[in-house]
Amino acid sequence: MANLYDGKMAAIYDAMYQTFVDYDQEYAFYNTLIQENNASSILEIGSGTGNLAKRFEQNKQNYQGLDYSDDMIAIAKERNKNCSFMQGDMRNFQLKNPVDAILITGRSTSYLITNADVNTTFDAIFKNLTKDGVLIFDFIDANRFIPFTKENPVITHEAEYKNVNYIRESHWDTNNSLENFMLEWNAEYYTMSNGKKEVIENDFSTVRVFTLNEIQLFLYLNNFEIIKTIDRKTYAYDTYVIVARKKITA
Ligand SMILES: C[S@@+](CC[C@H](N)C(=O)[O-])C[C@H]1O[C@@H](n2cnc3c(N)ncnc32)[C@H](O)[C@@H]1O
Repeated sequence: MANLYDGKMAAIYDAMYQTFVDYDQEYAFYNTLIQENNASSILEIGSGTGNLAKRFEQNKQNYQGLDYSDDMIAIAKERNKNCSFMQGDMRNFQLKNPVDAILITGRSTSYLITNADVNTTFDAIFKNLTKDGVLIFDFIDANRFIPFTKENPVITHEAEYKNVNYIRESHWDTNNSLENFMLEWNAEYYTMSNGKKEVIENDFSTVRVFTLNEIQLFLYLNNFEIIKTIDRKTYAYDTYVIVARKKITA
C-alpha cells in the first residue's frame, strides 16, 4: 500500500489530481455506463478525496464511497458533508445492503498486486452486488504501459492548483521485474516557485498493471461476464474500462 494516500500526501494528491483529472468528464463517462445499466444504487471503491462523490451527490444519486485511507476519507467527508464514506478494504468488505453498481476508478485496481488480491476483491464485489448488478472498473494496460515506462525512465507530470505549481517525477523499475507485472513506483513530488525546486515528498509503492486477457480470466473465474470493454486514455496512461455483470446461471 502506498504512502501516497496517508497524512499530508492525501492533501497533495487532492491538489494535484484536480489538475490531472477532469472530474466532470470522469463523472459523465462513468454515469453514462451506470445509466445504461439502470443502476440506481452505487458504491465507489477507492473513492479517494471524494471528487466523483461530489458529482453523484449534486445529482442526488444513491451513492456511497469506500476507501482504505482514513486521510483520504477525511478530505472526502469535508468536501461532501451529506455523503456516506466508509473505511474498508476492497479485498474484504460487506455492505449493509447490496448495490446495483460498483465502481473502481482512477486506476485503483493497480493496488491489487497478487492474484489473491484480485480474486478476493472480485469475490467481495460479487457478494455485494444485486442480481443484475454491474461492476465497472479501469486498469492500466500492461501491453502499452511496460514499453512506455521502459522507453521513458522518468515521467513528469505537472499540475497547478490554487496558484501552486506541483511536479511529480515518476521512476518505474521495469528491469527488476517482479511477479505478475508488478512494478516498483518511485515518485518524487515537489513544488516549483521562482525557478526554485522544493521537494515535498518521496513516495514508494508497488503496483500492478494487467493485460486485458488476464482481467478477462479473473472475471471469468469469479463468475462475471463482460458486457463492455472500452479502450480509454487517461491523463497519464492507457487504460481499459470494463463493464461486467454476474453470470446468469441456469
Ligand atoms: C489513485 S487513487 C484514486 C482515487 C479516486 N478514485 C480518484 O480518481 O481520484 C487510489 C485510491 O484507492 C485507495 N485504495 C488503495 N488500495 C485500496 C484497498 N485495498 N481498498 C480500498 N481502497 C484502496 C487509496 O486509498 C486511494 O484513495
